[in-house]
Amino acid sequence: MASPSKDKTVSLRTERAKRAGTTPPALKSGYPATRLRRNRRADWSRRLVRETALTPDDLIWPLFVIDGERARSEIESMPGVARLSIDLAVRAAEDAAVIGLPAIALFPNTEPGLRDEAASQAFNPGNLVCRAVRAIKQAVPEIGIICDVALDPYTSHGHDGLLDEDGTVDNDRTLQALITQALVQAEAGCDILAPSDMMDGRVGAIRAALEENGFTDTQILSYAAKYASAYYGPFRDAVGSGVQLRGDKKTYQMDPANGDEALREVALDISEGADMVMVKPGIAYLDIVWRVKEAFNLPTFVYQTSGEYAMLTAAAERGWLDRDRVILENLLAFKRAGADAIFTYFAPEVARRLKDEF
Ligand code: PBG
Repeated sequence: MASPSKDKTVSLRTERAKRAGTTPPALKSGYPATRLRRNRRADWSRRLVRETALTPDDLIWPLFVIDGERARSEIESMPGVARLSIDLAVRAAEDAAVIGLPAIALFPNTEPGLRDEAASQAFNPGNLVCRAVRAIKQAVPEIGIICDVALDPYTSHGHDGLLDEDGTVDNDRTLQALITQALVQAEAGCDILAPSDMMDGRVGAIRAALEENGFTDTQILSYAAKYASAYYGPFRDAVGSGVQLRGDKKTYQMDPANGDEALREVALDISEGADMVMVKPGIAYLDIVWRVKEAFNLPTFVYQTSGEYAMLTAAAERGWLDRDRVILENLLAFKRAGADAIFTYFAPEVARRLKDEF
């Protein structure tokens, strides 16, 4: 325990230095007076001084949806994760609510025959994701539902936007498509629209359309700083957008070399009406999470991507990493960096584990 007289000396010295306009001399607070190991000695003490906590409230569970009934198809590059037909997705959402997860995010795997250059299925109010939203809303009204706004599950070329004749993604034509997709999903009952397409101006366009059409309470979670990353491979297997992807997404997703630009992206999306922003991927971009949270103090989410899931799972399967510990350590790191919530495929297992601990 620090002695009161010592504290007094310190503050007097600080006061005097302040009055003299100088900085106080360095405090003699080094070893052995300061032994940081003291606080770490016992479990109870470590719990007392712990700065960051992870709870089920922090976790969002991404779910992949397919057509059919009682259908479950495993994703090879994501062991333990499966695409589910709507009836099973409803069950999963019920489980999620029971274990205390606040929200799920739905990603459709559209049949290849329904994908085209114009992404027509995105505008169909009866498409897979809209049917899933309706079914889950009806069965589990207490859970939040998040839907991506991006065309990649619907385009035959796998891009998030519409292509010009020369193969470039046409920003402004894509905005019109995204507006229609967003309205269709809001109409189905989606609570949070999450534009993940990285077109310029999409948050403003979607916000204006929502207001005009009476969806004043639909939230927008912008994938504001989304990088052109190699970590999305398994996700593209899961939704089937990878096989036919023509080229890469570098003309719209961010360059992994850039940090300042992430702040510009976030600032724009906030000014256009985003309620929450996201950084993606996660573990390799903790600096971005930190900077965004520091700069804007807005609800800041992070996406622990499919590639991160695959890495951790693969190493744990081989016995090279302690699965339970390494998962918690990664999720805790997101919280420590400033994230308010985390998209993670580990959500149900971690929520169950955290619940047992309380
Ligand atoms: C679609 C989208 C992607 C992810 C979320 N929404 C992939 C991509 O942009 O190619 C990635 C999620 C993950 O890897 O877990 N725009």
